[in-house]
Amino acid sequence: MVTAEVAEALPAQTPEDRFEAVVAAEQRIEPRDWMPDAYRATLIRQIAQHAHSEIIGMQPEGNWLTRAPSLRRKAILLAKAQDEAGHGLYLYAAAETLGVDRAELTEKLISGRQKYSSIFNYPTLTFADVGVIGWLVDGAAICNQVPLCRCSYGPYARAMVRICKEESFHQRQGYELLMTLMRGTEAQRRMVQDAVDRWWWPSLMMFGPSDADSPNSARSMAWRIKRHSNDELRQRFVDMSVPQAQHLGVTLPDPELRWNEERGGWDFGEPDWSELNRVIRGQGPCNAQRIERRRAAHEDGAWVREAAVAYAAKHAAEQAASHVAEQAASRAAEPVQHATEQENGK
Ligand code: 3HC
Repeated sequence: MVTAEVAEALPAQTPEDRFEAVVAAEQRIEPRDWMPDAYRATLIRQIAQHAHSEIIGMQPEGNWLTRAPSLRRKAILLAKAQDEAGHGLYLYAAAETLGVDRAELTEKLISGRQKYSSIFNYPTLTFADVGVIGWLVDGAAICNQVPLCRCSYGPYARAMVRICKEESFHQRQGYELLMTLMRGTEAQRRMVQDAVDRWWWPSLMMFGPSDADSPNSARSMAWRIKRHSNDELRQRFVDMSVPQAQHLGVTLPDPELRWNEERGGWDFGEPDWSELNRVIRGQGPCNAQRIERRRAAHEDGAWVREAAVAYAAKHAAEQAASHVAEQAASRAAEPVQHATEQENGK
């Protein structure tokens, strides 16, 4: 929000100057504030992609809901999937403050005109994948999203606060599941290692292309939408994950991983960028299946949307009718009140 102090300090400035000053002062831009068209478009692009990712992200783990090994694991997984649905809703609501409609965004997703995160186009082959998604995928999401709580656009930043708290719970449940499996049989430990081998590189790719190939980063960072570059966040994630992998007793599948004493961080290998590009273009292992499932769910849910609209119309009509009745009743009471007042000599 443009605070009184910032607004007062800038009385004679153009909207552009005012916008720049608010961003530079680490204040928030709010929906009714003036903003450049490109800033609005960038936010819609990023928030919509983010919302789509949360919604599509329910599918890989949803695959295990009916086959969770215990009631406890099923309840945890169900709660996590419900959280992701909630995150999608907060984010669509944040996008709507920028003047777009959720139905329009959903249409763009299922017709392939908007993206969602590459990570959700990989299959979940065993129950260990559920743990590794919690640990690595939600861990990467936390690294990427905690800085978004300081994004310059108010509704997005505020939505991220709650999302990050829930993601932190998701990451811990994943790590706890993996710890349990690692304390189990040799076959369970192998299952965890296999899941780590398959998810490590795609998790690194979640942060996007390398900085040199990231066309949007510079602009988004100048506007304080993104607070760190893709490579900075990827490095932060590797530094965080290596000691966790050691504690867990798994090997990260990167022969180039070694501690760099000089810069106090882990050196790591180059992700396969051609794979990321293929997955983003729609040619990942599960892209077609994910979009088809989303389209079917959207179509299956049409009656719910129609019922909600019909209910809202009925409720509004009832409210209007009761308002009219109330007014008529108060008009009818007026002469009686008048006569009573006259009788009482008022
Ligand atoms: N998957 C799909 N597309 C990707 C991508 C990925 N991992 N990384 C980058 N891209 C796309 C970008 O969207 C952009 O395409 P566009 O210009 O057509 O929109 C293009 O590749 C170039 O990348 P840039 O680095 O220039 O793009 P950005 O500056 O937008 O950075 C980002 C990409 C880091 C993903 C940024 O948009 C971001 O931080 N988004 C918010 C977080 C988010 O959406 N996370 C998705 C995961 S949600 C999640 O994990 C849910 C949880 O429950 C696990």
